[in-house]
Amino acid sequence: MATTPAFDIIFFGGTGDLALRKLIPALFYAHQSGTLNKDGRIYALGRKAVNNEAYLALLEERVKPRLGDGVDESTWQGFTDRIHFLKLDADRAEDYTHLAGILGCDSNRVTVHYLATAPHLFTGICGHLAKAGLNHPGTRLVLEKPLGHDLASSTAINQAVGQWFTESQIYRIDHYLGKESVQNLLAIRFGNTLFEPLWRREWIDNVQITIAEELGVEERGEFYDRTGALRDMLQSHLLQLLCMVAMEPPASMSEDAVRDEKLKVLKSLKPFSTEDVLTKTVRGQYRNGAIRGQAVTGYLDEPHVASDSNTETFVALQAEISNWRWAGVPFFLRTGKRMQERVAEIVINFRHVPHALFPAPVDQQAGNKLVIRLQPTESVRLHFMTKKPGDTMSLQSTYLNLDFQTMFKTPRADAYERLLLDVIRGRLALFMRGDEQAQAWSWVEPILACWDRHSIAPKTYTAGSWGPAASSGLLSRAGATWQEET
Ligand code: BG6
Repeated sequence: MATTPAFDIIFFGGTGDLALRKLIPALFYAHQSGTLNKDGRIYALGRKAVNNEAYLALLEERVKPRLGDGVDESTWQGFTDRIHFLKLDADRAEDYTHLAGILGCDSNRVTVHYLATAPHLFTGICGHLAKAGLNHPGTRLVLEKPLGHDLASSTAINQAVGQWFTESQIYRIDHYLGKESVQNLLAIRFGNTLFEPLWRREWIDNVQITIAEELGVEERGEFYDRTGALRDMLQSHLLQLLCMVAMEPPASMSEDAVRDEKLKVLKSLKPFSTEDVLTKTVRGQYRNGAIRGQAVTGYLDEPHVASDSNTETFVALQAEISNWRWAGVPFFLRTGKRMQERVAEIVINFRHVPHALFPAPVDQQAGNKLVIRLQPTESVRLHFMTKKPGDTMSLQSTYLNLDFQTMFKTPRADAYERLLLDVIRGRLALFMRGDEQAQAWSWVEPILACWDRHSIAPKTYTAGSWGPAASSGLLSRAGATWQEET
């Protein structure tokens, strides 16, 4: 891969969980593969008075062990030479002047300010950056989700940030768009003639998108209890995946061509009426259970979670896209924490054959489907019916398996690595535009409001299961079942 231009990347929230778990490791891998320009500096900012030495010791303790066995000492040393810790109080103008002095005044140098902080700090940080002369033609701003709590707060943030930065400088990150399989979905759809003619209501029975996690809320109880699965995952990651499945072929792969098509999908999502919310959405909350044989506590006993919390840790819903391509096709979306296994996948279930010539297999839907798996491994499987070996003409389902791990021996970039490299290179296509985000909020808000108005309490589910029974009921009413094989 070609090396990036010279850059400075500045992490606000440099001692935070995201920086230590995802951002610094992502840059390490890019450094290790030789993709980062030699003249690339990384600044980690934090409020605490930690000196550079102590910060590097923190990376040694928290980051290095995550990087696997093969970390070569001199590579690690070369990487950490790029890193500088700076104390910055997000509210203090003087600290930004100091930062500006350190960064220097090359107004064309790629300078990425990555706001991995609580969203209520975004507006203030942007104002201070601009006033300290830190907004110049080479400046890019990365906004980490959640971007607001609802449409009003997200609009307020976008407007405030928009006073200082233009839309083409703003990179709203949704790390699911950086996953290899998601981009492969576009390659499969628009790089072949095979699927596109079938990619429509005439041939597709239903679409299922699942992001199931084994993890609970970990250290994030306080944030999560204010947020819930609909805001944390569905409004962002699941709707972005839905856009990738449902969008029309863009005029080109340029950033706005792709984002215009995604926006059209979001605008075509049928709004939920009260009746729809009551019948087509399921909220859940996990109780004590076991994951891979290990006992885990229920949500209400998690640290920093209110003991009478009504926050959902699971959501499933049936969406519909009101346009010519998709009218009448159910899109089932679900996500949850403390589920039976970690899996993220998109299942395209094609229609059954119009007339059964052969003895029907037990599970009709076992063939005729395309499964795009994002996690834990990345693959695309085309399931179809074949003849069972033997002297009778009966069918069984089997699949063609495109397993990226085996197929492509070259290591693939992790989602954050790819997206950070895209920011440094100035590629916006895999980042959300402000209007997409507003549209996604507009669509989910009536669901949140209705849950609230009707005091819809989450249904309980045992940790380590596939969520509340009502989630299966949602599909069975439409004559479908969730794909749950591994
Ligand atoms: C984040 C959510 O955006 O995505 C987390 O805030 C969630 O709650 C995470 O755990 C899941 O990402 P991944 O890539 O591990 O599936």
